[in-house]
Amino acid sequence: MILCIDKVLTDDQLQRIRQTLDASDFRDGRETAGWHARTVKRNQQASSQEPAIAALRDEVMQTLSAHTLFQIAARPRRMKPVMFSRYQQGMTYGNHVDDAVMPTPQGPMRTDLSFTIFLGDPDSYEGGELVTETTQGEQRFKLPAGSMILYPSSTLHRVDPVTQGQRLAAVGWLQSQVRHPEQREVLFDLDTTRRQIFERDGKTAEFDSISKSLANLLRMWAEI
Ligand code: NI
Repeated sequence: MILCIDKVLTDDQLQRIRQTLDASDFRDGRETAGWHARTVKRNQQASSQEPAIAALRDEVMQTLSAHTLFQIAARPRRMKPVMFSRYQQGMTYGNHVDDAVMPTPQGPMRTDLSFTIFLGDPDSYEGGELVTETTQGEQRFKLPAGSMILYPSSTLHRVDPVTQGQRLAAVGWLQSQVRHPEQREVLFDLDTTRRQIFERDGKTAEFDSISKSLANLLRMWAEI
């Protein structure tokens, strides 16, 4: 399941992030790429050694931990702290698959889901689409500022060359409590449906029944 989530970050957050990134040093993105991805990665990353960047990173992580739709779609068990990336004119990240295991402050993590939060107005740069390649073909994403695409880390993907302006994004990875995408999707559908029932009719017998199934499936499938 590939999911786009609107307005994960507020306009105020976006403004502060862009201002801070404008005043920050960026490093060659190849420093954090695996050996084969390094050959096609041409972008830059803000250094989290800088206190201002570290504070923004922590703020984005807190926002995500409080975001209901993100939480029920991803069910994170562990998350890698987000990185801020920049693609200036001519920069690109060719086809690659993200590393299956990544280091985190809490130890190694299996990557189940990858995400990109777009930080700039799509009209402010040319190119820079995130392109996923699946058996159904290519899908291209260039989302409004503050919106997120969440996709399985098993997906082959790339960032097309930026031909004008600059593309800013926050990117991250997570290990889910539910390893298999099909199971996560079942839980996501049940959870969103029971919330719709709750909004429409309140805490009905149908709501209770779906909540019970959701909880019991999670008991069967969750790795904690
Ligand atoms: Ni990637």
